[in-house]
Amino acid sequence: MSEEQPLLKLEGVTKNFGAIQALRGIDMHISRGEVVALLGDNGAGKSTLVKIISGGLQPSSGKMSFEGQERHFASPSEAKAAGIETVYQDLSLCTNADVVANFFMGREITRRVLGVPILQEREMEEVVAKAMADAGTRIPSLRTNVEHLSGGQRQAIELNRFVHWGGKLVLLDEPFAALGVEQTRRGLEMIRRVADRGIGVVVITHIMAQAFQVADRIVVIRQGTVAGDLKTSETNPDQVIDLITGATLSRAGKDRGGSN
Ligand SMILES: Nc1ncnc2c1ncn2[C@@H]1O[C@H](COP(=O)(O)OP(=O)(O)OP(=O)(O)O)[C@@H](O)[C@H]1O
Ligand SMILES: [Mg+2]
Repeated sequence: MSEEQPLLKLEGVTKNFGAIQALRGIDMHISRGEVVALLGDNGAGKSTLVKIISGGLQPSSGKMSFEGQERHFASPSEAKAAGIETVYQDLSLCTNADVVANFFMGREITRRVLGVPILQEREMEEVVAKAMADAGTRIPSLRTNVEHLSGGQRQAIELNRFVHWGGKLVLLDEPFAALGVEQTRRGLEMIRRVADRGIGVVVITHIMAQAFQVADRIVVIRQGTVAGDLKTSETNPDQVIDLITGATLSRAGKDRGGSN
């Protein structure tokens, strides 16, 4: 596998819901260690695209390659096994279990004593404490039930868990929608740190400043197509807004004497 090969590549991906064409031929790629912000108006197709990448929806047509191989994920668990996961603020955590239990969930460390598997609580706690410390995440107590933690703390646990278990591409659909200013700042920092470990990150946001703060590249989706794919350092919010609304097109149309 060559180094230049993108982590994920989509070619001509479409998705129809009955008569609605939610995606009309999406071409895009994501590299290792790259943060891509997906921007676009309500109903543009962003969530649909993210769900297709993570196995929650099947494309109507088109091709998806992951690590250079063509892949079809029939379910989120198939995508997860390949290292692709959507991180939600709290949906995938078990609220009545503590941080350690959530971190291991199905991967617990056990040791057999007289043939009976015994949970190695101390060892698991140490693993979680190290993962949290490495990521700069502070949780008051790893033995706190997740229900008592804030949205930002839950998100941090999920991201740390993803990184710890060898995740390769993480998708976040409006991860900061319910978070305060400080938690959002920490969340954005965390995204950068995750990408610095070579993980690909796709983040949907409606907030332009967040996209410019965290993303290496901005991909604008409009009416189910890629309206723009730009390096953050080579664009500006005005240009991105024009792409989101289609203003550039309609102005160009007017310049040409077109009717729209
Ligand atoms: N399960 C579904 N059944 C029918 N139509 C759907 C379904 N999911 C999405 N759509 C339609 O597909 C289009 C794209 O929706 P999508 O949720 O991907 O938009 P979005 O860009 O995420 O918007 P928002 O910013 O509002 O979250 C919309 O017209 C939506 O109504
Ligand atoms: Mg959406």
